[in-house]
Amino acid sequence: MIEQIKGKIKVLLEEYYLKEYNLELSIAVEEPKKQGLGDISVPVFAAVKALKKPLPECVNEVVEIIKNNIKEVEMINPTGGFVNILLNKQLLSEQIIKEVVSQGSNYGNRHFGEGKTCVLDYSSPNIAKSFSIGHLRSTMIGNSLKLIHEKCGYKTVGINYLGDWGTQFGKMIVAYELWGDKDIIDKDPINELTKLYVRFTNESKLDPSLDDKARYAFRQVELGDEKYLSLWKWIREESLKESKQIYDLLNISFDSYRGEAYYNDKMDAVVAELEAKHLLKEDNGAMIVDLGEDKVPALIKRADGGSLYITRDLAAIFDRMKDYNFDLALYVVGNEQRLHFEQLKSVLTLMGYDYGNRISHVNFGLVLQNGKKMSTRTGNVVKLYDVLEQAIKIAYEAIESKNPTLENKEDIARKVGVGAVVFNDLKNHRTLDVEFDLNQMVKFEGQTGPYLQYSSVRIASIINGQTFDVNNMNKEIMLKDHYFELVKSISQFGAVVERACVERLTSIIAKYLLSLAQLFNKFYAIERINVEDEQIRNTNFALASCVRTILNEGMRLLGIEYLDRM
Ligand code: ARG
Repeated sequence: MIEQIKGKIKVLLEEYYLKEYNLELSIAVEEPKKQGLGDISVPVFAAVKALKKPLPECVNEVVEIIKNNIKEVEMINPTGGFVNILLNKQLLSEQIIKEVVSQGSNYGNRHFGEGKTCVLDYSSPNIAKSFSIGHLRSTMIGNSLKLIHEKCGYKTVGINYLGDWGTQFGKMIVAYELWGDKDIIDKDPINELTKLYVRFTNESKLDPSLDDKARYAFRQVELGDEKYLSLWKWIREESLKESKQIYDLLNISFDSYRGEAYYNDKMDAVVAELEAKHLLKEDNGAMIVDLGEDKVPALIKRADGGSLYITRDLAAIFDRMKDYNFDLALYVVGNEQRLHFEQLKSVLTLMGYDYGNRISHVNFGLVLQNGKKMSTRTGNVVKLYDVLEQAIKIAYEAIESKNPTLENKEDIARKVGVGAVVFNDLKNHRTLDVEFDLNQMVKFEGQTGPYLQYSSVRIASIINGQTFDVNNMNKEIMLKDHYFELVKSISQFGAVVERACVERLTSIIAKYLLSLAQLFNKFYAIERINVEDEQIRNTNFALASCVRTILNEGMRLLGIEYLDRM
């Protein structure tokens, strides 16, 4: 609501300057820098400069326009080059509360994405290797960004660009042929395949000829040898189960699983097109695209004829353009692939396609454990699934000790444990490394997912089925600071969602939810909700219910499940 008023002031002033002075100004409507100056602040410097008029005159113009057009204004007080506006808290609060109550989870929806399609490439694990913690990050960030874009009106397509092609399959085939037993694998594919992979990794350190065998085996797959190809198919199917197990825990699904293998027969066309456009150059037997001085050239084809990552991604982006005609293509991939995505964009531009600027690498940092890069891949058999199970177990124990008679403890513990891991990841600026400390992230207080879930559950138990009438609230009480602060925070939700979408930062929502929960908990420490006075009671219940609506919707956007009880 405050955002809407800000927007209205901006439009009013810009239209005024255009009509009155034929000037196209962009007016920034802000929040006052200092507390106590009001709710909205309009800087007048730009107008002074453009109009070449004295400051007081410019200020007066702005004051008049606002006074005559914005009914929610209580008081206007100019200080220096700013016009500060104090809003009518009673009127405003009532409007905001009514809006949230009537819109429910649709509150905060944005429309700027309507008519547009956003494709998101995320998770994309290299199957036949263990699902890595980096891929988990990509999964969680991608899933949340997909939901955020949907809230802003976009049509979205979630693509899991599976790494289902590569020498890891050669390794698995060799390991299977040497030590594998189909019956055992069929009984417990995920664990047995992991064991084989780990054994291969360990033994190949002692016997490097195993790597040659793996390369040979994968070459046979590439050449289409029937036996090897069917082994590849089988291993692909079985290894995918590990990823699916994790997606089930996270409650995540994809619109497409079109992975690297799908593009095998679509790369020749890419190479031919590059050739026809005279972009290919030979370099020691390999084929490259020169991207200009002091730029690393893009390697399109290896000297031995093997195809490369970027060539496949070119084939994939053409495919996505054809199928989805996207306005935005996001790749949620770690920081270390920055160069790759820069090259992808450059090659597209050189090829004459104008949609390079619709592509964006949504990069992220490492996951650390005790300050060191966390690895679930080699040597040890620690699987990510087990790590998630561990989080769920810690959550279960916490619930057991707090609320032993709770029903459905398993299901609730899954939501809390997973929510804890997700929130721990999404609360920080994604380009930074995150520390992975299970005990810390499953705590019910502090900056955690369970804290948010708990705050929402607490409100549910306060409201506990009580009804309230928003047409019979006490408006004077909204003047109290702790009331109005809460209402103001609620009203910021839509703007927060918008910023998270535009900047592709889940942390903006995560931090906002924490501060909203804290504000409410502070409020609850001061006020009793269920009071005698009917109007105050209505106001209190309505306000609490608004906070829960937004906490839940915010958690949903992050991919965290909310609860009624815990
Ligand atoms: N499978 C790749 C990896 O683990 C990530 C794929 C990212 N997506 C893409 N279109 N390149 O490194």
